[in-house]
Amino acid sequence: MRKRGAAIIGPGNIGTDLMFKIERTSSTLELIAMAGVDASSEGLTRARALGKAITSNGVEGLVALDEFSAIDVVFDATSAAAHVRNDAVLASYGKRVVDLTPAALGPFVVPPVNLATVAHARNLNMVTCGGQATIPIVAAINAVAKVHYAEIIASIASTASATSPVRQRSSAVPNIPSWVTTTSRAPVPPCSTPPPRIPCCRACCANAGTTRR
Ligand SMILES: NC(=O)c1ccc[n+]([C@@H]2O[C@H](COP(=O)([O-])OP(=O)(O)OC[C@H]3O[C@@H](n4cnc5c(N)ncnc54)[C@H](O)[C@@H]3O)[C@@H](O)[C@H]2O)c1
Repeated sequence: MRKRGAAIIGPGNIGTDLMFKIERTSSTLELIAMAGVDASSEGLTRARALGKAITSNGVEGLVALDEFSAIDVVFDATSAAAHVRNDAVLASYGKRVVDLTPAALGPFVVPPVNLATVAHARNLNMVTCGGQATIPIVAAINAVAKVHYAEIIASIASTASATSPVRQRSSAVPNIPSWVTTTSRAPVPPCSTPPPRIPCCRACCANAGTTRR
């Protein structure tokens, strides 16, 4: 079977980790290209060393690559804000996108729970790392006893914190409000729609004191 061509936008922690996972373990994907915005980034350097096409001109640079037509699926590991723009560009080319940011444009996908029902979507929204860790457990318990409330307490590595001198520009930090919102909205079967508006998290949300979806 022909492997599907893949590209990654966002050569940071998650994008670089994904690159090596595809390289080392995938029998269905062939990583073709990596796109970033910083030509000197370690992730792009490592992708080049693996012989991948690279660009530091973001999604526009990816589209301009000779290899673009061979790309079937694009993984976006940038930020929620960047993903909105990246997805608009990729949608105009009909590219399938797996969204690893908390932007939540496409249907929520938690593979052990609902992959079959959303696999057709062009944009697959992978919720958040917290959602992927928690929702399968909630769904499993909910299958035998109704879960009325579930809560996750998560911590972020110091190397990804805004106070770390080496990671001041990490995409994970400005993402935290989106992370909280997206994780809390992820539907757990048998629910198929996001829950109603919830109170804002005062600790970390830019919309503190308001309500949001
Ligand atoms: N940190 C985690 O444990 C974790 C887990 C799952 C998902 N995520 C999500 O994955 C995303 C990446 O997280 P990370 O920890 O790798 O952050 P990171 O800051 O290490 O990496 C982000 C990368 O994207 C690049 N980038 C930013 N805007 C871009 C654009 N417009 N075009 C191309 N490249 C761009 C940055 O230069 C950087 O290389 C975030 O949205 C985060 O919420 C993080």
